[in-house]
Amino acid sequence: MRIKGKRYRTIWYENNVVKIIDQTKLPHKFVIKDLKTIKDAVKAIKTMQVRGAPLIGGTAAYGIVLAIQENNNLDFIKKSSEELVNSRPTAINLQWAIHRMNNKLSFVESDELLDVALKEAKLICDEDIKFCENIGVNGLKIIEEIFNKNKKTVNILTHCNAGWLATIDWGTATSPIYQAHRKGIPIHVWVDETRPRNQGANLTSFELNEEGILNTIITDNTGGILMQRGEVDMCIVGTDRTLSTGDVCNKIGTYLKALAAYDNNVPFYVALPSSTIDWETKDYNKIPIEERSSEELSHIEGKDDKNNIKKVLIYPENSKSMNLAFDITPAKYVTGLITEKGICQASTVGLKQMFNR
Ligand code: MRU
Repeated sequence: MRIKGKRYRTIWYENNVVKIIDQTKLPHKFVIKDLKTIKDAVKAIKTMQVRGAPLIGGTAAYGIVLAIQENNNLDFIKKSSEELVNSRPTAINLQWAIHRMNNKLSFVESDELLDVALKEAKLICDEDIKFCENIGVNGLKIIEEIFNKNKKTVNILTHCNAGWLATIDWGTATSPIYQAHRKGIPIHVWVDETRPRNQGANLTSFELNEEGILNTIITDNTGGILMQRGEVDMCIVGTDRTLSTGDVCNKIGTYLKALAAYDNNVPFYVALPSSTIDWETKDYNKIPIEERSSEELSHIEGKDDKNNIKKVLIYPENSKSMNLAFDITPAKYVTGLITEKGICQASTVGLKQMFNR
């Protein structure tokens, strides 16, 4: 997608270095960062310089490339794989990508490891772009239907950032929005701020602005009243792990939006590539929910009037806080899953039929 009119992917490999857009600096600064070692890759995922389920999968794949560049001994690659898998627990794409890389690398001669790893990491990223583009084509049909019925701007609510910054390109939840906009359908997006890290305000709104799509940032608590007032035609969110039962794990606060949507008859769609499906876990209580530092709540970063980026404490110094990063939306609240293959019911039957499992 575009930044100041220039096309970018969120991750690419150039001159033995992995390049990323440092998302901790957005929206105030656009910084391209070099990842040179496996440590850099693990740090980038942990500190959320890169984030979003498909992108952390892509970064993990390139992390294996960096590990091999450093030392192509099998024990080192195994240890690096473990470090990458443990860098963030909830998004299944991380495990999926590492598993796929290691499968590809087994039985490969040591002098060919780097070449094979590079090809596979690039393939994982290229496939993600294709899948996300297809999600857009499939999701576009829903937006078109709403537009054809109402003949007025389609108001879409989204949570967190499931945009191109969370993937390699296009995004998941935003892909149908980009496709609809390119087709000339008038769109307006309600962007949930998404405390505490504000991925909605900092990243989704930034992305949509760059693509020239009308959007309004709202607090995480505003969606309910907008739905009651009939100002939301549909919700589309991403996911970090969707179980084969159709239960959806996504950024904290998604569940509350789904409840409000259910109560107000607003369609609630989840967009995902198949790499985000966890086919093994059946009970959503078994999904590891990441708990991040409470400093992400107690401190906030922004730009002052002199253009200096500052981090300030916003809570009483001795208050305790808790920062769960994801929640679960049970399948019954999900109108449909928009995948690269088509739209299916959020259910065991729906997913099985869609993916021939
Ligand atoms: O904690 P984050 O910013 O990595 O969480 C991101 C999300 O929750 C996204 O909705 C999800 O990864 C979908 S990515 C297309």
